[in-house]
This record gives sequence, structure tokens and C-alpha cells, in this order.
Amino acid sequence: MRQASYRNSSEDERTCLAPSLVRSRGSGSALLAQLAIAFLLFLTLSARAADEAQLKRGELLFKAADCVACHTDAKGGGAPLAGGRKLETPFGIFYSPNITPDREDGIGSWSEARFRRALREGLDDEGRYLYPVFPFTSFTRMSDADIADLYAYLRSLPPVARPNQRYELKFPFGWRFLLIFWRTLFFREGPLQPDPDRSAEWDRGRYLAEAVVHCQECHTPRNFLGGLKESEAYSGNPQGVAGVKAPNITGDDATGIGKWSVEDIADLLKTGQTPDMDFVGSAMAEVVKGTAALDDVDRHAIAVYIKSIRPIHTEKKPAS
Ligand code: HEC
Ligand code: HEC
Repeated sequence: MRQASYRNSSEDERTCLAPSLVRSRGSGSALLAQLAIAFLLFLTLSARAADEAQLKRGELLFKAADCVACHTDAKGGGAPLAGGRKLETPFGIFYSPNITPDREDGIGSWSEARFRRALREGLDDEGRYLYPVFPFTSFTRMSDADIADLYAYLRSLPPVARPNQRYELKFPFGWRFLLIFWRTLFFREGPLQPDPDRSAEWDRGRYLAEAVVHCQECHTPRNFLGGLKESEAYSGNPQGVAGVKAPNITGDDATGIGKWSVEDIADLLKTGQTPDMDFVGSAMAEVVKGTAALDDVDRHAIAVYIKSIRPIHTEKKPAS
């Protein structure tokens, strides 16, 4: 009898709780035990559902932020997130680190707090400054909740043993402690706060564009120290990203995307296709793989935010 009601309650603990109460009339302690079992089951099931929902949310953020593009040596056939991708910068060559949950070579031994500190503060597990080639300057704007989801998702992926490679940096950029100066000049830490004068959609769009998809890291020009020129935000990076110039995406008609509608921008983020039926290539094609995983509501929000950016007229259109 008790067995049967227990099995029932595992099938659907909510509807079967009441009958099992009736059936076990007579013994108070049996009733208590059944209640406790039902309650534990309920907790376990809802915890598992929450875990799955968290992994789903984390996966979406992971795709939209395109962690995999930099942390995978795709050309060399490297395993996802095991690092080793060559990143050439004016300061020398970086090889992205392994961020799989491998305890030796990856970040398997990092607590959630350490992980959060890397994204929020740009510090590694030993508290050393990370180079801004890792876009923590954008990720710092993510919420604690989103960082927790991202962490949970990364932990669910297979660990890969692959030691990190030494960088080939020009003198004196090999000295991490020098980044203190860079940070003082160019790094503002902390999550984005909603703007009370704007719509919820605009806030969501800004959050995704600035914190997660980090559009500025490619579309904003940099000064000679590699800091983003905020007064020229989104006006394009003529130095380019991996050899391709990132175009002006402010609303300037002649040199930006002033003629694009909100729908045009949202469509590009879904399909990679521009209004004149071209497809974006290179780094932007990678970005679109991530934004294509978002839903229409989120893509629309990003487009609304991008449309609201102050138009900037640039010398000449940086990309063809
Ligand atoms: C534009 C390329 C790029 C993107 C995108 C990127 N990273 Fe990185 N990341 C790097 C590089 C390069 C480093 C090494 C920085 C250093 O050595 O100071 C790094 C370092 C890290 C570290 C510290 C690892 C260590 O061993 O110290 C973590 C954690 C990390 N990234 C996680 C992520 C996550 C999570 C994402 C996506 C949300 C992401 N990265 C997106 C390039 C990138
Ligand atoms: C990793 C670098 C990178 C990131 C991040 C990035 N872009 Fe791009 N984007 C590019 C490059 C490079 C191109 C040019 C691609 C080409 O010419 O094929 C481009 C092209 C575009 C275009 C086409 C413009 C035109 O005139 O044809 C739009 C619109 C655009 N990006 C919007 C965005 C938005 C919005 C975000 C953030 C949600 C974003 N990009 C994030 C690198 C990036």
C-alpha cells in the first residue's frame, strides 16, 4: 500500500499527495514519513528542472557571447574551448587559454566566485590582471545571475587536457602588472543598470549588445593603447578584426547604417544577410551564429538599441 502510493507520488507528486494522505489514515508517523518523502521528491524534481533551465540559459549566453570563437583553435583542429587560438594584436601574439573544466589545464578548479571575478574584474584565479584581448571590459557589465548560468553551463561541458601556450608579446607588454595603468584609463567595472528614461526593450537590447555580444569590442575604434574610443562608439574599427575592417554601425546615412530599419538589423542578426542581399563574412559571421540562437524578441531589442546610437560621420566607409 505504502509502496504503491509512493510510486504514484513519483509519477505526479502533486495530484497523488491527497489520495496517499487518505490511504495512510491510521498511523501518524507513516503519514509524516509519506509527507516527507513526497516533499523530498518535489524538491529533487524541481531542483532538476531548475538545473536544466539554468543550463539552457547558460548555453544561450555562451553562444551569444561567442566564447567558443576565441577559445578554440578551429584552424588547428583543436577541441572546443581547449584554447590555443592565435590572436594577433598590435602588442604581440596571444594564444587563448583552455577554459574547459579540465582541472589541470582548464578552469576545472575555479569556483564560481573566481569565474565571476574573471568576467567582472578581469583577474585570473591568482588575482593577476588579465589582458583586455579577453573582452572582460564588456563582460563586466553582465549580471551576477547570468554569470552564474554561464558558469554552470561551462561546467557541464567535457574537460579537455591541453596545456596553455606562452604568448609572444612585444616588450614591455609581457609584464602583466603594467595593465594597472591600462585599467585605470580604460576599465570601468560593474554591471549595467537599467536607464529609467528608456523602455524595457531598449534596456534589454543595450544589455545584450554591450555586455554579452560585446559589439563595441569590434565596432568601436581603439586608441594607440588599445582602449576603446568611447566618443566614437560604434563608428567602426578601421584597424580591423582579424584582418577585416569592422564597419560604422551608427545611424549615419552615408558612412553608417542610417538607412537600415530596425527589422533590417534584427534580420542580419538572425540570417547574416544585409538589406542589399549580401552576407556578412569573417568575424561577423561568427557573431551571427550566436545571435541566431537568441529569440526574435532579443534580436529586435538589440536592433532597437543599435538604432538609438548617436550617428557619427566617418571619413570614409571603413568596410567595402
Ligand atoms: C575576443 C576573444 C575572446 C572572447 C570572445 C572570449 N575570451 Fe576568454 N580569454 C581570451 C584571451 C586571449 C584570454 C587570456 C587573457 C590573458 O592571458 O590575460 C582569455 C581568458 C579567459 C579566462 C581566464 C582563463 C585563465 O586561465 O586565466 C576565462 C575564465 C575566460 N576567458 C572565459 C571566457 C568566457 C566565459 C567567454 C564568453 C563569455 C570568453 N572568455 C570570451 C579571449 C576571449
Ligand atoms: C568579433 C567582432 C565583431 C563583433 C563582436 C560584432 N561585429 Fe558586427 N561586424 C564585424 C565585422 C568584421 C563586420 C564586417 C563583415 C564583412 O564585411 O563581411 C561586421 C559587420 C556588421 C554589420 C554590417 C554593416 C554593413 O555596413 O554592412 C552590422 C549591422 C553589424 N556588424 C552589427 C553588429 C552588432 C549589432 C553587433 C553586436 C550585437 C556586432 N555587429 C558585433 C565584427 C563584429
